[in-house]
Amino acid sequence: MSENPEKPTIYKGLVGVYADVSSVSKVMPETNSLTYGGYAVQDLAETCSFEEVAYLLWHGELPNAAQLEAFKAETSSQREISPALQRVIREFPHDAHPMDAIRTAVSFMGLEDPEAGDVSDAAQRRKAMRLFAKIPTAIAAAYRAAKGQEVAAPDPKHSFAENVFHLIQGRVPQPEVLKAFDVSMILYAEHTFNASTYTARLVTSSGADLHGAITAGIASLKGPLHGGANEAVMHMLKEIGDPKIAREWLQSRFDHKALVMGFGHRVYKSGDSRVPTMRKYAEKMAEVVQDRTWMEISRILADEMLTKKNIHPNLDFPAGPAYYLMGFEIPLFTPLFVASRITGWAAHVFEQGADNRLIRPLSWYTGPEQRPVPPMAAR
Ligand code: ACO
Repeated sequence: MSENPEKPTIYKGLVGVYADVSSVSKVMPETNSLTYGGYAVQDLAETCSFEEVAYLLWHGELPNAAQLEAFKAETSSQREISPALQRVIREFPHDAHPMDAIRTAVSFMGLEDPEAGDVSDAAQRRKAMRLFAKIPTAIAAAYRAAKGQEVAAPDPKHSFAENVFHLIQGRVPQPEVLKAFDVSMILYAEHTFNASTYTARLVTSSGADLHGAITAGIASLKGPLHGGANEAVMHMLKEIGDPKIAREWLQSRFDHKALVMGFGHRVYKSGDSRVPTMRKYAEKMAEVVQDRTWMEISRILADEMLTKKNIHPNLDFPAGPAYYLMGFEIPLFTPLFVASRITGWAAHVFEQGADNRLIRPLSWYTGPEQRPVPPMAAR
């Protein structure tokens, strides 16, 4: 019972609040399932490419062969970033976090975009296509510039996944690795009104443009309670280092009532629908690299968290070691999430724009009662 009888129910963290309708995806915590456009995400991950799923999120239907070819041709023709952005990226502090770098690069792309301020549906979609195509190039450019390396040119013949490896690692890996990466992109692409997606919708609701919404979405995704958790998971696994001490390490976290990264979820309380698929592909990466250390520590942590706390892992838990085993450096993990989630963010920007009402909730005031402004000498 609140002290003030007039005080309305406060939904801190907007827990349990339905803020709008959406047809992009559906999360069903009671069955641990997630669908994009009606298709189970694990089925999409096993049978489709990331490009097909991007098309689905933006058009509501999977593409036929001709539509897919046109979509791929369009994105691969847009991958290059401007010389001006390349120059700006070279000026970034070399110790900048790659999430801050891609957030700034996306904002800069808004300055350059010929249709930046046009918020018509057609223009927003063209801009989303350009960002989708250019984000991996910008992530790779910032990563390489920080190491004093030349910016690699995207190869229009490459698939989305091949291009990411080509740009960042300078090589295209074997098909199993590409498939595992593509699966991660599909699983990360969309997840209803999570913090970053809702941020993008909130920005859009004021009539602001797509680059602003995506820049804000990236800022939100960086936080360790959200997308930043995939990096935090790998730091944690490396800190543990040895499966033999995993239980003891976890117990010390429990003793300090500390968070264990990659566990828990606002919506799923009995398991994240995306985890089994991502775990399967992370296991495959461990086989490819012939190093089971991280998956073994992960298994112990997941078992203990379930037995002792009844808390399940979320997608970031298997995605962290999967990216590590694919050869990506840890600070690139959340930017890779951006390269995927731009598709879901943009789908929500389109949806919000098509049926917009300014998002403007209320706050219950708890500060001092109204009082006179004291003169300077009296403060
Ligand atoms: N480690 C330890 N305890 C946890 C964890 C965790 N990772 N997650 C939840 N709990 C505990 C809480 O402390 C709380 O305990 P209490 O009832 O004794 O206070 C209980 O479980 C319920 O958790 P809430 O805090 O109510 O869960 P909420 O929905 O507010 O938070 C969140 C969800 C932010 C994801 C949280 O679980 C968390 O911080 N997890 C770690 C960070 C993480 O992995 N984030 C990635 C999310 S998925 C994604 O963005 C792709």
